[in-house]
Amino acid sequence: MNEFDPNTALSSIGGFFRRLRERWQRFPEQVKRLTVLLAVVVFALVTARTMLVPADFGKYGHYRASAVDEIVAQPIQYAGHEICTECHDDVAETKAAGFHKNVGCEVCHGPAAAHTEDVEAVQLLAPRGREGCPLCHEYLPSRPTGFPQIVSASHNPVKPCIGCHEAHDPKPPETPKECSACHATIARSKAISHHAYVACTRCHEAPDQHKLDPRSFRPSKPDGREFCAGCHDDGASGKEGIPQIDQASHEERYVCWQCHYPHLPEAQ
Ligand code: HEC
Ligand code: HEC
Ligand code: HEC
Ligand code: HEC
Ligand code: HEC
Ligand code: HEC
Ligand code: HEC
Ligand code: HEC
Repeated sequence: MNEFDPNTALSSIGGFFRRLRERWQRFPEQVKRLTVLLAVVVFALVTARTMLVPADFGKYGHYRASAVDEIVAQPIQYAGHEICTECHDDVAETKAAGFHKNVGCEVCHGPAAAHTEDVEAVQLLAPRGREGCPLCHEYLPSRPTGFPQIVSASHNPVKPCIGCHEAHDPKPPETPKECSACHATIARSKAISHHAYVACTRCHEAPDQHKLDPRSFRPSKPDGREFCAGCHDDGASGKEGIPQIDQASHEERYVCWQCHYPHLPEAQ
C-alpha cells in the first residue's frame, strides 16, 4: 500500500477539472445551454421542496398531517337518520315501509345537527313546493330505466307534489289502469307500429300487484323464438294478414328481438 501523498492527490484532482473544462468547451453551444437550464430547474425544484412544502407534509401519507386536526375541528352539520327516530318515530316508521325507505331524512330536510341539539330554537324546513322532488324524479335519459321519473312540466302541473303523494310514503294516489301510465315511451312506440293491435298482455303476463309495487312483482317476458312464431311461422294456421316467415330457417341462430324490436318491429 502506498503512503497517502497530498501533492499527488491535489494534482490528480486538478487534472480531473482541467479535463472536464476542456471537454465542456468542446460541447456544442445548445448542449451547454440545456445543461445550465437543467441545473437551474433542479435547483429551483429542490428549493421549492424544502422551503414551500409545509413541514408536516408526508407524515402519514401524501397530505399535510395537520389537515386532519383542522377537519376534525369543523362544526358538525349532519346528524344522521338514527337520531330522528327518538322523537319522530311515527315518521321514521312510515318511511321505512315505503318507497323512500332508502332516502335519508336530511336529504329532504337539510342538515339537522343544530335541530337535534335545540329543537325549539332551530326549526327545519320541509320541501313543500314542486321544486324539491324533481331533483331526483325529473326525467333524465341517463337515469336507470325503472327509476320512477316524470316530466314535471306535464305531470299534473300547478298542484304541489305532496298534494297527491305523501312525502314519507309516496305512492301514486290511485292504481293506474293502463300500462301506458308508467310505460309511456313503450306504449307510444307500439301505438304507431305494426303491433299496434297486439295487446301488451298478449306478450306479457302482468300480475295485478305489478301496478302497485312494480319492482317486486314483475311481468313475464317472451322467452324464445317459438313465442313470436306462434303468430308468424308459416305453419301457423288462421293468420291472414300476419306476415309469415319459416321459423326453422329464418335467421335461426338468434332470438327474434335481437333484430326486431318487439314494440316497433320492422322488416328491413
Ligand atoms: C329531541 C327530539 C328531536 C329530535 C332528535 C329531532 N327532532 Fe325534529 N322536531 C322535534 C320537535 C319537538 C319539533 C317541533 C314540532 C312542532 O313545532 O310542532 C320538530 C320538528 C321537526 C320538523 C318539522 C318542520 C315543519 O315544517 O313542520 C322536521 C322536518 C323535523 N323535526 C325533522 C327532524 C329530523 C330530520 C331529525 C333527525 C336528523 C329530527 N327532526 C330530530 C324534535 C326532535
Ligand atoms: C323525500 C323527501 C323527504 C324525506 C326523505 C323525509 N321527509 Fe319529512 N317531510 C317532507 C315533506 C315534503 C314534508 C311536508 C309534508 C306536508 O306538509 O304534508 C315533511 C314533513 C315532515 C315533518 C313534519 C310534519 C309531519 O308530516 O309529521 C317531520 C317531523 C318530518 N318530515 C320528519 C322527517 C324525518 C324524521 C325523516 C326521516 C325518517 C323525514 N322527514 C324524511 C319530505 C321528506
Ligand atoms: C334523494 C332522491 C329523492 C327525492 C328528493 C325524492 N325521491 Fe321519490 N323516490 C326516490 C327513490 C330512491 C325511490 C324508490 C325507487 C325504487 O323503488 O326503485 C322513490 C320513489 C318515489 C315514488 C314511487 C313511484 C312508484 O314507483 O310508484 C314516488 C311517487 C315518489 N318517489 C315521489 C316523490 C315526491 C313527491 C318527492 C318530493 C316530496 C320525492 N319523491 C323526492 C328518491 C327520491
Ligand atoms: C294531481 C295529483 C298528482 C300530482 C300533483 C303529482 N302527481 Fe305524481 N302521480 C300521480 C298519479 C295519478 C301517478 C300514477 C301514474 C300516472 O297516472 O301518471 C303518479 C306517478 C308518479 C310517479 C311514478 C312514475 C313511474 O313511472 O313510476 C312519480 C315519481 C311521481 N308521480 C312524482 C311526482 C312529483 C315529483 C310531483 C311534483 C312535481 C308529482 N308527482 C305531482 C298524481 C300526481
Ligand atoms: C305503476 C307503474 C306501472 C304500471 C301501471 C305498469 N308497470 Fe310495468 N313496470 C313498472 C316499473 C317501475 C318496472 C321496472 C322497470 C325496471 O326495473 O327496469 C316495470 C317493468 C315491466 C316489465 C319488465 C320486467 C322485467 O323483468 O324486465 C314489463 C314486461 C312490464 N313492466 C310490463 C307491464 C305491463 C304489460 C303493464 C300493464 C298491464 C305494466 N307493466 C304496468 C311500472 C309499471
Ligand atoms: C309482440 C310482443 C310484445 C308486445 C305486444 C309488447 N311487448 Fe314488451 N317486450 C316484448 C319482448 C320480446 C321483450 C323483451 C325484449 C328484450 O329482452 O330485449 C319486451 C320487453 C318489455 C319491457 C322491458 C324493457 C324493455 O324495453 O326491454 C317492458 C317494460 C315492456 N316490454 C313493456 C311492454 C308494454 C307496456 C307493452 C304494451 C304497451 C308491451 N311491452 C308490448 C314483447 C312485447
Ligand atoms: C298476436 C300475434 C302476434 C305476435 C305474438 C307477434 N306478432 Fe309480429 N305482427 C303481428 C301482426 C298482426 C303484424 C302485422 C300487422 C300489419 O299488418 O301491419 C306483425 C308484424 C310483424 C313484423 C313485420 C313488420 C314489417 O315491417 O312488415 C315483424 C318483424 C314482427 N311482427 C315481429 C314480431 C316479433 C319479433 C314477435 C315476438 C316478440 C312478434 N312479432 C309477435 C302479430 C303478432
Ligand atoms: C338476424 C336478424 C333476424 C332475426 C334473428 C329474425 N329476423 Fe325476422 N327479419 C330479418 C330481416 C333482415 C327481415 C327482412 C328481410 C327478409 O324478409 O328476410 C326480416 C323479416 C321478418 C318478417 C317480415 C316478413 C315479410 O314477409 O314481410 C317477419 C314477420 C319476421 N322477420 C319475423 C321474425 C320472427 C318471428 C323471428 C324469430 C323467430 C325473426 N324474425 C328473427 C331479420 C331477423
